[in-house]
Amino acid sequence: MLLSIAFWLLVSLIGFWILLGPTTKVLRALWEIIIQIYDRKTIDLRTKFGEWAVVTGSTDGIGKAYAKELAIRNMNLILISRNLEKLESTKQEILLINPKIEIKIITADFTEGENAFIKIRSHLQDISVGILVNNVGKQYEYPMYVGEVPETELWDIINVNVGATTLMTRLVIGDMQKHRRGAIVNVSSGSEFQPLPLMTVYAATKAYVKSFSEALRAEYSRYGITVQHLSPLYVNTKMNAFSHRLQVSSIFVPDAATYSRNAIAILGKMDNSTGYWAHSIQKLLALTSPVWFRTKIGQMINENLRQDYFQQKGQGKKLQ
Ligand SMILES: NC(=O)c1ccc[n+]([C@@H]2O[C@H](COP(=O)([O-])OP(=O)(O)OC[C@H]3O[C@@H](n4cnc5c(N)ncnc54)[C@H](OP(=O)(O)O)[C@@H]3O)[C@@H](O)[C@H]2O)c1
Repeated sequence: MLLSIAFWLLVSLIGFWILLGPTTKVLRALWEIIIQIYDRKTIDLRTKFGEWAVVTGSTDGIGKAYAKELAIRNMNLILISRNLEKLESTKQEILLINPKIEIKIITADFTEGENAFIKIRSHLQDISVGILVNNVGKQYEYPMYVGEVPETELWDIINVNVGATTLMTRLVIGDMQKHRRGAIVNVSSGSEFQPLPLMTVYAATKAYVKSFSEALRAEYSRYGITVQHLSPLYVNTKMNAFSHRLQVSSIFVPDAATYSRNAIAILGKMDNSTGYWAHSIQKLLALTSPVWFRTKIGQMINENLRQDYFQQKGQGKKLQ
């Protein structure tokens, strides 16, 4: 009798332990949706984190739209991208939204790795950064098998997605720690939810960003530093130009302005999120299925997006 009770207790304990992980993930995703829809309280970012925000990759897409949202909230800005003309015109565009803020621009190419940081370091040395938005990211030109991706493109993806996020953080975290306030916003991607064939390296770099963000938060939250990890799903930007289907805005593929307006609303409230309620609904649905299944579905979707690219290029169907 006692042996039988002990056996069933052990079975229940093992069952509970196995289900705990997935159940927590699903409940968290549900909570994410509820907060985004119902919590309308605004946070004064300047008071909470500091006066200056740095946005990497800020002349297009999510980075540019996020910089505009920061400007609306009276944050001074440091914009970093490769192209001086685009930086100048982005600066003017943002000053029309809020002429009272200060905006500095820095040209830097993160594919250059260490060299990109020489200039950035000297520009930032006298500025106390309150918010760092590690937005810059590089994706394949179109969904590809690893052996097809040019070697230089793989180095660029690693240098930009992993290198820039890590080293930009390293550059500002000491000062944030000293002032006991600040926020690091790491723009990752929903591709980190599971391995993603045909975007294998991109997704793996975003899994790095997730791991980096979570460990960083454990190290620095005690100093009053917020580390937010954002995992957007598809957003209508030039990054997804490989498929016409992703170049049409909808509820599930928002434009960059809609995405950023939603994402900034949860800064200081939620540390892990897609950043956009409709993406969080997709995340909730995704997390209810096993990883192998999602990996298979992801591969099928990417095979289709790959065909879109070849059709756009007028090359018809190309099979692996
Ligand atoms: N769009 C999506 O569906 C999606 C989904 C999930 C996650 N994300 C993530 O969101 C972030 C932003 O993506 P996005 O779609 O907004 O990208 P995007 O529209 O392609 O814009 C990229 C920005 O980064 C700059 N940039 C590109 N390469 C750079 C480099 N080597 N050095 C410095 N700046 C560089 C570009 O400006 P210049 O060309 O002028 O330098 C541009 O301002 C990325 O981390 C991406 O992985 C996007």
